[in-house]
Amino acid sequence: MRIGILNSGGDCPGLNAVIHGAVGAAHTLGWEVVGFRDGFEGLLPPGDYMMLDPSRTIGIMKLGGTILGTTNKGHFVAKVGEGNVSEVPKEIVDRAKTTLKHLEIGALIVVGGDGSLTTGLQLYRMGVPVIGVPKTIDNDIQATAMSFGFDSAVATVVDALDRLHTTAESHKRVIVLEVMGRHAGWIALYGGMAGGADVILLPEIPFNMEHVASAIRQRDARGMHSTLVVVAEGARMESGELLKKEKISSKGEDRLGGIGEYVAKRIEELTNKETRSCTLGHLQRGGSPTALDRILGVRFGAMAVSLIEQGKFGRMVSYQQYQVGDVSIEEAVNQLRTVQPDSEIVRAGRSIGICFGDAPPMN
Ligand code: F6P
Repeated sequence: MRIGILNSGGDCPGLNAVIHGAVGAAHTLGWEVVGFRDGFEGLLPPGDYMMLDPSRTIGIMKLGGTILGTTNKGHFVAKVGEGNVSEVPKEIVDRAKTTLKHLEIGALIVVGGDGSLTTGLQLYRMGVPVIGVPKTIDNDIQATAMSFGFDSAVATVVDALDRLHTTAESHKRVIVLEVMGRHAGWIALYGGMAGGADVILLPEIPFNMEHVASAIRQRDARGMHSTLVVVAEGARMESGELLKKEKISSKGEDRLGGIGEYVAKRIEELTNKETRSCTLGHLQRGGSPTALDRILGVRFGAMAVSLIEQGKFGRMVSYQQYQVGDVSIEEAVNQLRTVQPDSEIVRAGRSIGICFGDAPPMN
């Protein structure tokens, strides 16, 4: 048996752990593993790949990025804009199938986010035996409670907030930290709560600058002269406005960003307090994965191989209630997993005095 593995879309801490897990599990079964380079692009004839065995993957778990390389553009993009699905041309899929046939690949593991899993699903429907593995720092894939990469991104946010805290306090300033997450606020919520942010602005809870300013004034009146604000790049004002760096990127999706600077400017205008902004950007994607992301990645890779062994194609590895299992890829794509504004974690945040920008501060 020979299987293929590829990762597609943005890189994510823990990708190498998935590769390590899949290669290890396949090797135990006596299978060969072909790793395709640069996402689905590696499937185009004659195929851009490397043979993977445990001697090649030893020590990669601790590395950020992916030894296979990746891309979020190219011939196989199946998603454009906010959730609009496009079909990968049949001619492109046929070319990929030619490579897989030529290399005698019996199954293909696709590690990717919502867009890449949509491509994986299309390939599956056109006859490729695909197993999906969810990958996203944004933690926004339906049908899995968690994906590897998220914990590492949150750890980076927390580290940044710890650093910003001391400088904000010394200068009695407001500091606004813009974090990633696209249309989901998980990174901002978890990072903000763990890093002791005073204000957290999410895409799921439209905010009003007046409420944010009141919260800062109230803190000042109580002798807390510095404030840390975490704003998700996809956070929306009550007016519904979303700040975009570029309308359409090369992969057909809007590039978000700029909200941190906007919020900082408005805070300074409304409160007269010296305010700075900081955008964490791709620091959240790079670097060594946390222990949790490594173990999740390895388990996902091992489960992907187990699903192949069981012939459960068209399925995606999923993490639910502390167990790694599987769901249909169909169930997982086309629906973002977002923060519920009335969830327990948001209520816990409100109860400890965090302002989410949707209401005046409580007394
Ligand atoms: O989906 C992961 C993510 O890091 C988002 O949080 C962010 O908006 C986007 O990718 C950035 O993409 P790129 O690397 O193409 O700038």
